[in-house]
Amino acid sequence: MISRRYAALLFFVCIALLLWSSFDILPRRQPAGGKFKYPYVPSSYDWSKAKVYHPPTDMKRLPTGSPKKLPQIQSNKRSDGQEAKMQAVKKAFLKSWEAYKKFAWTKDELMPLSAKGKTSLSGWSAQLVDALDTLWIMGLKDEFSQAVKEVALIDWSKTQDNRVVNLFEVTIRYLGGLLAAYDLSQEPILLAKAVELGDTLYATFDTPNRLPSHWLDYEKAKQGQTTADAKMSAAAGGTLCMEFTRLAVLTKNDKYYDAVERIKIFFRRFQNETTLPGMWPIWMNYRDEEMLESHYSIAGSADSQYEYLVKMHPLLGGLDTEYPEMAIKALDTIRDNLLFRPMTPGDANILLAGEVEIDDNTRNATFTAKMDHLTCFAGGMYALAGKLLDKLDYVDLGSRLTAGCVWEYDAMPSGIMPESATFVACAKLDGPCPFNAEHMPPTDDPRRPGGFLSVQGTSYLLRPEAIESVFYMWRITGDQTWRDAAWRMWENIVRETETELAFAIVRDVTVSLGPKGDSMETFWLGETVKYFYLIFSDSDLMSLDEYVFNTEAHPFRRPV
Ligand SMILES: *[C@@H]1O[C@H](CO)[C@@H](O)[C@H](O)[C@H]1NC(C)=O
Ligand SMILES: *[C@@H]1O[C@H](CO)[C@@H](O)[C@H](O)[C@H]1NC(C)=O
Repeated sequence: MISRRYAALLFFVCIALLLWSSFDILPRRQPAGGKFKYPYVPSSYDWSKAKVYHPPTDMKRLPTGSPKKLPQIQSNKRSDGQEAKMQAVKKAFLKSWEAYKKFAWTKDELMPLSAKGKTSLSGWSAQLVDALDTLWIMGLKDEFSQAVKEVALIDWSKTQDNRVVNLFEVTIRYLGGLLAAYDLSQEPILLAKAVELGDTLYATFDTPNRLPSHWLDYEKAKQGQTTADAKMSAAAGGTLCMEFTRLAVLTKNDKYYDAVERIKIFFRRFQNETTLPGMWPIWMNYRDEEMLESHYSIAGSADSQYEYLVKMHPLLGGLDTEYPEMAIKALDTIRDNLLFRPMTPGDANILLAGEVEIDDNTRNATFTAKMDHLTCFAGGMYALAGKLLDKLDYVDLGSRLTAGCVWEYDAMPSGIMPESATFVACAKLDGPCPFNAEHMPPTDDPRRPGGFLSVQGTSYLLRPEAIESVFYMWRITGDQTWRDAAWRMWENIVRETETELAFAIVRDVTVSLGPKGDSMETFWLGETVKYFYLIFSDSDLMSLDEYVFNTEAHPFRRPV
């Protein structure tokens, strides 16, 4: 009898335990899907269960229906990889990666001169996450697995720097990096960690008007005290939609899409109403839903807002008509107001993109013929939009904008374009524009090459935007000129930035072999090296007809 009673008791306890664990009340919740390849530690605070103080009243849902067949982007002419050049790029990647592993493993960044790690983006191993998909693309599967093991342990609910969370940077680098690495590898840990991060970031949309705050303060968010910012850049709000939309698609959870669709609605409401209709000023009041000031640019703080209008079209399989409509209106306005042809000694047929300030009272526009390295993404954006939206003139503008950045690389003694420079704008985009030295202040400074009015920012920060546009032009046209330009740029960058350990920023590109700085931002391995590799690889590796890259060069699979 007794043994029977024990058996019954044991049976009861077992059932209770089973129920207990499946009802998710164990201290460590079992992640979705159950079995993971590596030990998995969920974040210490589960934001998916946090109280939402301002829930959306009408959930915006992902567009439904089968994806449209969009025009082909890549050239019909498939090209083989150039093995020696691919290996050269891979070698530079591995050198940087080995140094990161040795001196900065799981830190946000490697400091390439002092051989130390740096916490610069909440301390969740930014470099590691940002480089995951590059590891995969280069076929470094063991390194990839080693990195995934670390990703499985990240705790998004604790920042290592005890600071608030930067919504924009965390979204494009971490969330984008995880989603792309998941799209490539189908490794469930990556999606689970992306969902955890998405749920964490979702808290910053819990505001009275459901527009986000740029800085997510966990303690404030837990008390329902988050408000949208009274001054936030266009890029900070407009560069979230790809990542949150991809997360919504992969999880079939509309809440992530709802969060960013509301930003689109806000932008759309004002697009034709600004002092430069078609564009948005760089700064906006998201809290009271107003536009601020009248400074228009596609450089930093505005750039990727425009890029994402174009890229949402393929990401949503063409099922949303508002993004392409907004994109065309914006790109036409940029063409008519910001693009300029610089006066150059050889009368090069190139374009750059400047800035406009509108006087709020008189509505007079002041144009500045300035070009930043960051703005070099524009060539790729126009070319991509041109293919997707069947606008050949955009492809031509994209080609001339990209040629403008290549021209700036070639013009400098270091062979690298400066962070920022000013020029003399020709009267028109088209037609001859002979060089007239009288427009340039006299100089005997050999470091200011012909055509440059001034070099305002002389550094090179290992940025990707120029090679990004060369990548688009190469894949779209198959014209060897772009591959040749890329190799020149690569040789120059390696010569000027390589250090004993890795690669470092340079402070003055107006001289060859100028002084270096102790910084290697995560986009070096996440973007710059990746785009170089993809230019020299087979042209169908990461085809633009299958993937759309976020602004941090993370490829998301397009719906088919
Ligand atoms: C803005 O103007 C364009 C035409 O220039 C139009 O197609 C678009 O629908 C307008 N947007 C809004 C929100 O009214
Ligand atoms: C604005 O432009 C008008 C003519 O278009 C001109 O008369 C006026 O002086 C300008 N105002 C300023 C402040 O430059």
